[in-house]
Amino acid sequence: MTQKRSSFTGKIGFVLAAAGSAVGLGNIWRFPYLAAQYGGGTFLITYLILAVTFGFALMCAEIAIGRKTGKSAIHAFSDLNKKYKFIGWLASIVPMIILPYYSVIGGWVSKYLFLSVSGNISTAAANDGQYFSDFIAKPFEPLGWFLLFMGLTAVIVLFEVEKGIEKVSKIMMPVLVVLTIGIAIYSMTMPGALGGVLYYIKPNFSNFSFMTVLAALGQLFYSMSLAMGIMITYGSYMKKEVSIESSVHQIEIFDTGIAFLAGLMVIPAVFSFSGGEALADKGPGLMFMVLPQVFNSLGGVMGNVLGTVFFMLVLFAALTSSISLMETVVSIFRDKFGWGRKVTCIGVFIGCLLLGIPSSLGHGPWASVEILGKNFLDFFDFISNSVIMPIVALLTCLFIGYVIKPKTLIDEIELGGRKFKNKPLFVWMIKYIAPVFIVLILATSVLEGFGVISI
Ligand code: TRP
Repeated sequence: MTQKRSSFTGKIGFVLAAAGSAVGLGNIWRFPYLAAQYGGGTFLITYLILAVTFGFALMCAEIAIGRKTGKSAIHAFSDLNKKYKFIGWLASIVPMIILPYYSVIGGWVSKYLFLSVSGNISTAAANDGQYFSDFIAKPFEPLGWFLLFMGLTAVIVLFEVEKGIEKVSKIMMPVLVVLTIGIAIYSMTMPGALGGVLYYIKPNFSNFSFMTVLAALGQLFYSMSLAMGIMITYGSYMKKEVSIESSVHQIEIFDTGIAFLAGLMVIPAVFSFSGGEALADKGPGLMFMVLPQVFNSLGGVMGNVLGTVFFMLVLFAALTSSISLMETVVSIFRDKFGWGRKVTCIGVFIGCLLLGIPSSLGHGPWASVEILGKNFLDFFDFISNSVIMPIVALLTCLFIGYVIKPKTLIDEIELGGRKFKNKPLFVWMIKYIAPVFIVLILATSVLEGFGVISI
């Protein structure tokens, strides 16, 4: 009896921790604007298919690698086979690229929290949310908010008070889910919103393009914190008696559920306020332009209160993610160079500032600087999500499929006589489907990124 109970708590604890890392700006900010940009229902269905096949296999694999070796990415790979340590290294580069620009967006969220607290949601809502474009085009203000968010993250990691934040976010997360459901329902019932609901839910295959698949795949990695060593680390803390397979199902349902709701909150509202044509070109600013209008439509005080609560919850979700990203980066440097915690934290903080500043300025004074036709933020986003992560995922699949063999991980997943229900799916994905698929996607994206082809 006691044993059953403790393993039960172990599972809930694991799923919540992993879901806590997975749920963040990726779900609330990134998913809706990609869905808007890449064909609504078409994107949604592509994402769902990838999540239950590809995402499932890769997440099972990463968690199993972590639990089997009890190590984080770099050491886990070298434990399994010395020659392949570099996959762990490659995976570790990803959080270093993501953290700086993640913090730039964290800064935008902080600004919008401030706007709501100071009763200015109507300003943010005016002119179809035009305020946002003006805000990110300013030279210093976004930089200041980025500094604030990055600084907050660094201070929390430096003084090791993340446990406190985690405790608070355990309460905040469920509230965020409830609030998101509430806002989604409200958005859907606004005049003219139905078109948005249909656009978001009904696949229209004339919207389908190769880029839809690429964007959905990148989003899958990003949102589920895959292909960057994170889930390996989480797996290394997982108890042996907890089921990997069913934990993965729950994390996926949680993560995808919140992303889906975030889309329902934003996309129908765009249709209601400005019609469907406006949808695709709002890009990364979508959430910041649309939600203030939703809140504002509730009337003065109510709108500001709701805005405050919402942006505060999003800020917490973003902070838990940025803390865990920074924690990862700090521990990589400490492991490698044996530096002290303080020195490493300060070093990582400075490095992130240097990398984050171009991402912040790239919408304003440096807007004319482009790499591969993208501003800095989009470039960092592209290079991590659409290039390095697919490569890491590909190498991971090949490594499991042909070096250590799937059986090594299947044994880990079946530990204690458990049945691995989706074993055939796992093996097929890892050995054949995923590698071929990623090579195709990757080749196309690189060619397109360099302007050789256009799709
Ligand atoms: N998955 C997170 C999100 O959806 C972002 C993220 C990517 C992340 N890598 C991470 C969070 C590593 C924590 C740790 O926002």
